[in-house]
Amino acid sequence: MTTSAPAKRLYIKTYGCQMNVYDSERMADVLRPLGYGMTDDPEGADLVVLNTCHIREKATEKVYSELGQIKLMKGRKAKAGGTMTIAVAGCVAQAEGEEIMRRQPAVDLVVGPQAYHLLPELIARAHRATGERLSADFAADEKFDALPKDRHVTGVTAFLTVQEGCDKFCTFCVVPYTRGGEWSRPAGDILAEARVLAAKGVREVTLLGQNVNAYDGDAGGLAGLVRQLAAVEGLDRIRYTTSHPRDMDEALIAAHGEVEALMPYLHLPVQSGSDRILKAMNRGHTAEHYIRLIETIRAARPDIAMSCDFIVGFPGERDSDFEATLNLVREVGYASAFSFKYSRRPGTPASALPGQVAVEVMDERLQRLNALLQTQQEAFNRSVVGRTAPVLIEKPGRNPGQIGGRSPWLQPVHIDGPERLIGQIVPVCIDAAARGSLSGSLVLETA
Ligand code: 5AD
Ligand code: SF4
Repeated sequence: MTTSAPAKRLYIKTYGCQMNVYDSERMADVLRPLGYGMTDDPEGADLVVLNTCHIREKATEKVYSELGQIKLMKGRKAKAGGTMTIAVAGCVAQAEGEEIMRRQPAVDLVVGPQAYHLLPELIARAHRATGERLSADFAADEKFDALPKDRHVTGVTAFLTVQEGCDKFCTFCVVPYTRGGEWSRPAGDILAEARVLAAKGVREVTLLGQNVNAYDGDAGGLAGLVRQLAAVEGLDRIRYTTSHPRDMDEALIAAHGEVEALMPYLHLPVQSGSDRILKAMNRGHTAEHYIRLIETIRAARPDIAMSCDFIVGFPGERDSDFEATLNLVREVGYASAFSFKYSRRPGTPASALPGQVAVEVMDERLQRLNALLQTQQEAFNRSVVGRTAPVLIEKPGRNPGQIGGRSPWLQPVHIDGPERLIGQIVPVCIDAAARGSLSGSLVLETA
């Protein structure tokens, strides 16, 4: 193994979803052979990559304000005789590459989510031709083949992209435009990557895809893939995200009841509890269908923790529609959830709909929804107090002598215990529940 100090400093800032977290790690893997080592301070870095999110307006605007700061750093470095290359990657790069170049001249290159394997080439070209500004977007299926087979691993959990893109065209969403159509990686490639991860000490993988349960690689759907991954030596826990209710097939539901490694936690966004709004969103299902689906899933795996995304203030949403959302939440009972105010995205069908909802109305609805979801999360956390649960120890805790891990239901658990347990799954008695986490004590197994 070569351990020479990296010659160049790379700073990557990641916005948005877990897919971007995976992509950022892979960008670092692509750049490592060129001598780039990670730094967590952009000041003075040789290469700054902003891996961006376009899903809501706020996320997009953050990128432009960050670029303003980075530009000043680039100026300071130039004054000191150095150079800093600024790259914008991810979904904003895909959706508005030219706009980025126009609004922020300090940016050297923009690269979409399907093209980041081209970074070395783009950087080399940018260095050769000072002043040349470059952009690359769709390169479709080539990306995964071009990425290094090896992965740099830093912990005992890892993300693993198995599917990309979306064909669902929810009327509020930019993803089908920024990430393209649904595409699944071949199962053999995924298994090979999983084996690399397991060999490096990863015990838990989270399979990623914009519509991960639409996975249709050569493994027999996501259920088949999960079963194959469960057989990989050392991989003890499997999770997946994000799923669409329409792709939640029988085989996958059955896997939840049968595959021990498949963790009892499911993020299954519904967005709204009103059929009228679901129709306007083009979700392709009703509230009733979603509720029945969860009943089926719970029949297969009774302790499954449900998670969700909601949008409040979709165009045309009346009080009665919002009440239907609250009712759906009450009926399902969530362990965790994310809720967002509708954000009008240029080019999406919903942006042209009449009945855009006033921001004060959205604020009030969001507050009410969050209060309900919060109560449910607290109730869920309390429900595991007194039980003994297997916890995967992931890292040292906040204080010396503490360690932190996750329950099967994805709750963070703080425990007094030695760091040598990191990477092990140990029985923990859950003593108390706080707002977003649990505390527990090690159950010492009698020899
Ligand atoms: N406005 C608000 N929230 C959105 N989401 C997607 N598009 C929008 C939008 N235009 C939310 C959805 C999705 C999550 C990733 O982001 O709830 O599930
Ligand atoms: Fe966006 Fe809908 Fe596709 Fe999810 S299913 S990525 S919300 S279009």
